[in-house]
Amino acid sequence: IQRLANTVPLSAFHCTTKDTDLMGYSIPKGTMIIQNLNSVLREEGQWKFPLEFNPENFLNEQGEFAKPEAFIEDGCFCASGPRMCLGEGLARMQLFLITVTLLRKFSFIWPDEAGKPDFTPVFGVTLTPKPYTMKVKLRKPGFIQLA
Ligand code: HEM
Repeated sequence: IQRLANTVPLSAFHCTTKDTDLMGYSIPKGTMIIQNLNSVLREEGQWKFPLEFNPENFLNEQGEFAKPEAFIEDGCFCASGPRMCLGEGLARMQLFLITVTLLRKFSFIWPDEAGKPDFTPVFGVTLTPKPYTMKVKLRKPGFIQLA
């Protein structure tokens, strides 16, 4: 989900502190560096299903978990190097606790009348989903509908 959602698509901006050679490119000191995480997280040829949510992206031929090379270390946080996301541990824990708590209590149902989901993100510093309607059902008993 985090790969496809790519919530911080340009990561944090950085700046070279000295003249730098990178893969044949000369980058002068003081150049602003803006990362394009889509080039990692949705690159054609790097993923079996680059534009789809599909856990098979992370499975090898034997069906075992295998982290693709394009998923730099902890990819969705662009967690590589000294400026990696400081909140990663906290965010991972929160995502797990909140998601599991909700899934244990509720069923999330895409209403038939809502048609096909539109996953086109709303662009900004972060990518967010378009507003949508979903049915949320208490696992037992009762029924809530959110709009
Ligand atoms: C799902 C949640 C989160 C995502 C996807 C995320 C993603 C990112 C990304 C992409 C960067 C830039 C890394 C780089 O420049 O290479 C970053 C940096 C950072 N994040 Fe997060 N983050 C999340 C949650 C958090 C939380 C909960 C905190 C704090 C409690 C936090 C604090 C920071 C800080 C302080 C930096 C700057 C680190 C530095 O430049 O040295 N993040 N995050």
